[in-house]
Amino acid sequence: MKPPTVLVVDDESLIRWSIKNRLTEAGFQVKEAETAAEALSTAREGVDLVLLDYRLPDADGLSVLKRIKETDPDTVVLMLTGHGSVGIAVEAMKQGAFHYVAKPFDLDELTMLVEKGLETTRLRREVKTLRASRSEPYSLDRIIGDSPAMQQLKALLKKVASSPASTVLLTGESGTGKDLAAKVIHFNSARSSAAFMNITCSALPETLLESELFGHERGAFTDARQQKKGLFELADGGTLFLDEIGEMVPALQSKLLRFLEEKTFKRVGGSTDIRVDLRVIAATNRNLDEEVQKGKFREDLYYRLKVLPLFLPPLRDRSGDIPPLVRYYVDAFNREFKKNVRGVTADAMRYLESHAWPGNIRELRNAIERAMLLSESNELTAADFSVTPGGGPVSQEFKLPPGGIRLDELERSLVEQALARAAGNQTRAATLLGLNRDQVRYRIEKFGLGKTETATTGSDKAQS
Ligand SMILES: Nc1ncnc2c1ncn2[C@@H]1O[C@H](COP(=O)(O)OP(=O)(O)OP(=O)(O)O)[C@@H](O)[C@H]1O
Ligand SMILES: [Mg+2]
Repeated sequence: MKPPTVLVVDDESLIRWSIKNRLTEAGFQVKEAETAAEALSTAREGVDLVLLDYRLPDADGLSVLKRIKETDPDTVVLMLTGHGSVGIAVEAMKQGAFHYVAKPFDLDELTMLVEKGLETTRLRREVKTLRASRSEPYSLDRIIGDSPAMQQLKALLKKVASSPASTVLLTGESGTGKDLAAKVIHFNSARSSAAFMNITCSALPETLLESELFGHERGAFTDARQQKKGLFELADGGTLFLDEIGEMVPALQSKLLRFLEEKTFKRVGGSTDIRVDLRVIAATNRNLDEEVQKGKFREDLYYRLKVLPLFLPPLRDRSGDIPPLVRYYVDAFNREFKKNVRGVTADAMRYLESHAWPGNIRELRNAIERAMLLSESNELTAADFSVTPGGGPVSQEFKLPPGGIRLDELERSLVEQALARAAGNQTRAATLLGLNRDQVRYRIEKFGLGKTETATTGSDKAQS
């Protein structure tokens, strides 16, 4: 890591020299400036702390302080004042100086103040980057969709986030946003500055999962050469997200239940109770009601988790959210791929809105990503989503009516409809049915639909 940079501003070279010597020894990088003008231009290059003399040849220190703070409010400024100039010291503090030091000063004391000041900058900057990189991407607005179901969900998420202790159970199909919801809860709660720990319960065998969660004492089992803290301890003060909770084995379910009830647990091989303060968020795409009935999931744990159930509805039940999601992802991939796609055509949007999206938002996102990668134009068309006739979702929506059907009549009707839509063109009718032209010809003869054949042969040849 780069050492912190300190700028020493004083017109007396002896003072600069002694401070520089001392601070270099302490491990800092030191820059020097003799005048206010020099100080400001060096400060603009980016320094972490400024030691600023009040009396400068071309300006007074307070005006320099003001300018530095305007450029970067996070720069820490230590004011060097003449003996007995309390008024100036007070004014400097008011204008955002971190501290003041009266001349003549003690170099040890000065070094200590510099160290303290730098710690403050470091923390301030850390908080800023953390906020920018973590909490903002998970603001409530990150959840796209204004359908009634989503409005209701967002209102609930907001409430849950502000009640920092409650356990939450997130349910919903794969790709509906359970991970996202868990992070939104954490980063909008009073726990946001502590850890968000996350584990997929199905990803590890039982014993490993147990020691990941609860940690272990030294010697607890053959490989346990060192004591290890588990996620429960690491997430202290924060949130523990247990994904795919439906896959957790019964033995661990009991331990989790005990923790939820008593807020304490033991490390594997340990005998002391460890108390931590965290929120558990569990998620599953299984139907826990059924798992309970099958005896695979503990009923008491289920009820304990279900205090605050949040259901993420599948995308097909809220197709109104599709246009804003499409806009969101087109924007996001424009930025990522440095493209300038304006949106999707009306046709493409109709397709996207009518598709069933079994993989939900993840599938929609992937479809847009692929389309944006492949498309050369600035508008995505239905073809960019490789909508092929016959392969579309329509066939999945065919349901056998309760009274049954006559398959040959349905077939005849579909061939007729396809021919009509294709204006008698057999090749195009074949494409609509997922057949080749010979197969369509065969059916035309079989169902006695041959009257149109001679009329269409000419155009067929021209087309194929
Ligand atoms: N409402 C939403 N707005 C914007 N993006 C969303 C929304 N819901 C989900 N996503 C995005 O969709 C993708 C899938 O979401 P996520 O991983 O949260 O789903 P999941 O329910 O945890 O799925 P699984 O059960 O497969 O783990 C992620 O990229 C997520 O950011
Ligand atoms: Mg998930």
